[in-house]
Amino acid sequence: QEEKAELESRIRKALKDQDAVLVAHYYVDPDIQRIAEETGGCVADSLEMARFGNRHPASTVVVAGVKFMGETAKILNPEKRVLMPTLEATCSLDIGCPADEFAEFCDQHPDRTVVVYANTSAAVKARADWVVTSSCAQAIVEHLDARGEKILWAPDQHLGSYIQKTTGTDMLLWQGSCIVHEEFKFQGLEDLKALYPDAAVLVHPESPAQVVEMADVVGSTSQLIQAVQSLPNERFIVATDNGIFYKMQQLAPNKTLIEAPTAGNGATCRSCAHCPWMAMNGLENLLHVIEHGDQEIQVDETLREDALKPLRRMLDFTA
Ligand code: 13P
Ligand code: SF4
Repeated sequence: QEEKAELESRIRKALKDQDAVLVAHYYVDPDIQRIAEETGGCVADSLEMARFGNRHPASTVVVAGVKFMGETAKILNPEKRVLMPTLEATCSLDIGCPADEFAEFCDQHPDRTVVVYANTSAAVKARADWVVTSSCAQAIVEHLDARGEKILWAPDQHLGSYIQKTTGTDMLLWQGSCIVHEEFKFQGLEDLKALYPDAAVLVHPESPAQVVEMADVVGSTSQLIQAVQSLPNERFIVATDNGIFYKMQQLAPNKTLIEAPTAGNGATCRSCAHCPWMAMNGLENLLHVIEHGDQEIQVDETLREDALKPLRRMLDFTA
């Protein structure tokens, strides 16, 4: 405990010394989320993380999350130093959509507007017309549909098919998925709902279709946190990474939160519902990178300029 307090106070000091701000995702270690908030940084979903890093005056942005979040910060802020506790923290959606294969897919469908989820590399974003996150994907696709555009969507198949169903848009889907959300099981969720019929079911749209269909609220991490605060229910079944429970419980201390099952028999598996790459962010590597600056995000300048256009479009659309 003493060791943790010592690490925390060194992190706070190092942030100040380095003119650095800490931006954290809801899925990372609660200690990191708390330090981010207490030091004037932010804890947010991927859209808000991008916005915050973009408007904060600090010369160094430290991103506790996964690599695409650090790359987004760098694309938007080339003049800033962008650090991460570890550059090894990736995402199965990013891994499952290699830039060269994606470029071939786009070349085969030149008549389609290319919309990519933020959970992609800078090189994939550079090939896109629009970048979206789960909190604005639906609105942006509706906007494009109203203009009569046909969409090529990548990489998350579940979010893609959910939006396709809700908007009726012509969308061609890349078949990527999130290894964490893919684990939520319909059968187990149905059993849990039978046990707690009063509970509201909250689901991140990276989950499989049958699970999404059972949801009372489908939304991004920030939208699910908002739902716990605003809905009258006392109990919630939550189908997303369990890192989110820290913020949900903090903002709604009187509500009961239940993890959605990740196995067909209704049992939960804590390690299954937690992203292994988000879990790579710890107090020790966070302190190390702020003090030494060695895990720095670099993005090739030509790629950066190309990736900036669809990212800017998203930020302008949601402003
Ligand atoms: P949000 O944009 O909802 O925070 O999602 C990011 C993510 O990686 C979900 O798995
Ligand atoms: Fe990627 Fe899934 Fe981890 Fe989010 S939870 S960063 S989508 S692997």
